[in-house]
Amino acid sequence: MTPVQTARLTLRPFTTDADDLAFVFDMYSRMEVQRYLGRNPRVLTDPAEARALVGRWASLEDGALGVRAITTHRGDRLGVLLLKRIPWSADAAAPGKPEDIEIGWHLHPDAWGSGYAAEAAAAVLAEAWAAGIPRIVAVTNPANVASQGVCRRIGMRALGPTDRYYDTTCELFELVAPAAGGARADG
Ligand SMILES: CC(C)(COP(=O)(O)OP(=O)(O)OC[C@H]1O[C@@H](n2cnc3c(N)ncnc32)[C@H](O)[C@@H]1OP(=O)(O)O)[C@@H](O)C(=O)NCCC(=O)NCCS
Repeated sequence: MTPVQTARLTLRPFTTDADDLAFVFDMYSRMEVQRYLGRNPRVLTDPAEARALVGRWASLEDGALGVRAITTHRGDRLGVLLLKRIPWSADAAAPGKPEDIEIGWHLHPDAWGSGYAAEAAAAVLAEAWAAGIPRIVAVTNPANVASQGVCRRIGMRALGPTDRYYDTTCELFELVAPAAGGARADG
């Protein structure tokens, strides 16, 4: 997973340095960040959980896939950009069925409203297409209109609600690699 630069941002792997861990703990200990994440949102309460999370992220690295820190060029931390395999819901899984690849974004509230999530995501999409990933999905809590706005800003197509992933109902968005013919409507 190589570092990615945009006009305003640098994306790079997380480390277990104290400043990275402090940022991760600070961001995920806020319910305004966590409220739409997962089936049973809960905030981090122990810094050890941040270290464990960064460890899990490191294990997701595979070519273009991985979890990147979004920072300014100066190095100020703004959030997290995820490109990873998305877990099927129990009733959608089948032996050998390859997972879809999802993109996701979590910004510190201090960084909301500046277009950083969309800018970071667009750059990571370009990495994904260059790596030959044919299609990317995003899922959001149905109430998460801010995240749905990011999906639309980066050109993702809204396919409506789905129960296919994470054992819950999400709004599904998708984008097909430009070489594969652009957005598709077969969700
Ligand atoms: C989802 C989340 C990343 C959205 O953050 P955001 O700051 O609204 O999204 P963007 O980075 O795309 O910013 C877009 C906003 O910045 C504004 N903006 C300002 N300067 C901009 C620029 N140069 N380029 C683009 N947009 C800009 C846009 O007008 C837009 O504002 P609006 O929503 O009021 O129209 C944020 O709410 C978050 O981290 N939430 C918690 C975690 C979460 O729920 N993640 C999603 C899980 S599915």
